[in-house]
Amino acid sequence: MKTALFPGSFDPVTLGHIDVIKRAANLFDKLIVAAAVNISKEPMFPLQKRVEMLKNSCASIKNIEIISFEGLLVEAIKYYRVSAVVRGLRAISDFEYEFQMAMMNREINPDYETIFLMPSPQYSFVSSRMIKEIVLLGGDVSAFVPDSVLREINEKK
Ligand code: PNS
Repeated sequence: MKTALFPGSFDPVTLGHIDVIKRAANLFDKLIVAAAVNISKEPMFPLQKRVEMLKNSCASIKNIEIISFEGLLVEAIKYYRVSAVVRGLRAISDFEYEFQMAMMNREINPDYETIFLMPSPQYSFVSSRMIKEIVLLGGDVSAFVPDSVLREINEKK
């Protein structure tokens, strides 16, 4: 059975993430979606809330499991025995960071592959960072996040 892990901050999960999650779930027998800590970002939602939002947004996808981890990605890869890590690539601007992270992690643990998947073009500009900024400035993000996430955002206001 081929299992992949899709790590990310998912703060919050966007329709772009969901697009990539569906593509990855079609490619692998099982997909583990892992909400993680990115120490260079100040989160809007706590880790457990991000897991809850992922669970609500992905309820219709049968072969996925939603988890969280707080340590290194390479440790999660070993623990869950996955053969691949999935990351979304929206544009060339994502590539440098993704390449560096993938190569650094591969140097530490060479026993898996990183696979980059592109979301549909309509999501190529959607990012959690911009969604948070729009929310903080009172804008409407309903076109970019699942309904359950929108409800959480509205409750936060
Ligand atoms: O959605 P993001 O913020 O781009 O996801 C980044 C994430 C969470 C995948 C990355 O920060 C990560 O792997 N964090 C776990 C800690 C870790 O392994 N850091 C070393 C990265 S080289």
